Amino acid sequence: MAQAGRPKKIFQTPTGMHDILPEDWAYFQRILKVVEETANFYGFSRIETPIVEMQELFEKGIGLTTDILEKQMYSFKTKGGDYVSLRPEGTAPVSRAYIQHGMMNLPQPVKLWYFGPFFRYESPQAGRYRQFWGAGLEMLGEQGAVIDAQLIQIFYNILKELKFKNLIVEVNSIGCTSCRAYYKKLLVNYFKTREVSLCHDCRRRLRENPLRILDCKEEKCQPIKAQAPQIIDHLCDECHNHFKEVLEFLDELELPYHLNPYLVRGLDYYTKTVFEIFSEVTRKDEEGRDKETVVKNALIGGGRYDNLVKILGGKETPACGAAIGVERIVELMKECQIKPRLSSHQPQVFIAQLGSSAKRKSLKLFEDFRDVGILVTESFGRDSLKSQLRIADRLGVQYTLILGEQEAISGNIIIREMKTGRQDVVKFDKVVKEVKKRVKK
Ligand code: HAM
Repeated sequence: MAQAGRPKKIFQTPTGMHDILPEDWAYFQRILKVVEETANFYGFSRIETPIVEMQELFEKGIGLTTDILEKQMYSFKTKGGDYVSLRPEGTAPVSRAYIQHGMMNLPQPVKLWYFGPFFRYESPQAGRYRQFWGAGLEMLGEQGAVIDAQLIQIFYNILKELKFKNLIVEVNSIGCTSCRAYYKKLLVNYFKTREVSLCHDCRRRLRENPLRILDCKEEKCQPIKAQAPQIIDHLCDECHNHFKEVLEFLDELELPYHLNPYLVRGLDYYTKTVFEIFSEVTRKDEEGRDKETVVKNALIGGGRYDNLVKILGGKETPACGAAIGVERIVELMKECQIKPRLSSHQPQVFIAQLGSSAKRKSLKLFEDFRDVGILVTESFGRDSLKSQLRIADRLGVQYTLILGEQEAISGNIIIREMKTGRQDVVKFDKVVKEVKKRVKK
């Protein structure tokens, strides 16, 4: 019991996590529908992995010196003594499932997609949450550059289908383990001589993960980064040719892209192609004039991960994939005033009843309408006919069926056309058939 004088505790969602309210679920559903239809078209099958995985899967898969592993994991020890983590991303779990279920024996590539919540202990801010929803597509068992280009096209199509304009596709290649090792050395030598001018985080990255310095957003690191050696000039022949082919395929698809030599992505499993897709938004002032153009957080990020399956204990399996940040898409849809456009759940018929016998009959009638696929609604808790008609009016239904005590006894029911107010009395057992004839599909 609350003590006198002490305010009652109002529970809130945990920091950085949110409820998806019905009005937002419409956006989620729209995104899910577009992802699902696109994935089906390109021959992907759905997979859902557990929300909790062994912690080691992410340590091995994502890399111990990544921001995700260092700062953002929700990890705990179970009662049975296992160390587990809430999944921060979907690629390592899908690769684990590929190995566990022997999918290397299926015709390759194996194409899988997923849609669900992920967890990262981030500093919450716009577009960055501790629980967020992601939709990912993964293609395992194929090394050709055509796959990389097709995946970029698929994600581009998803955003186009959601009616986004001004999309920016950024691509880069971060090479394979052998050419990257050499490039890392070059990079470390370059940054070491400029270490004092780097931000605090980058000085740490220099020792732990020098590639990450390249996507540092700190002002003071920008001029130093700008002069740094670029990996594209140091790719081995195989990686160079692979990337060249990816770009040729993108040209063939007439998909506009930018080369971004600083794009390295925050997960250690990437090899060769990496990409991100952004949207540019023009904000208006009060008079409706263009005020500023801003590039939002990445909506989509992905790339090739040719070593991951092997790192996790499987056979050598080239792979490529990407994932969408669903909340970021929802926020952008709202900002760009893109409506979710789902099929209507607007009821066509309201059943109003008066008296206990009518209420009993109405309950069954409701189910009869459900059987024939007509959307009906009711307010069975109310007994006043007037208040029920008021609700029917507010809901904008085409017809209200009125079943009073009189009608219940005589085996009739009234069909009221809401627009005109015209009322017809029909036989109760014919009403479903009669309404079916009248409702606009
Ligand atoms: P990621 O870039 O870390 O990649 O995440 C994918 C997308 O999830 C991002 O582009 C962003 O839209 C969204 N996202 C990431 N963190 C947050 C957050 N804290 N709050 C809201 N949205 C967020 C991956 O996770 C890789 N598994 C993608 C992949 C699939 N690569 C290959 N296959």
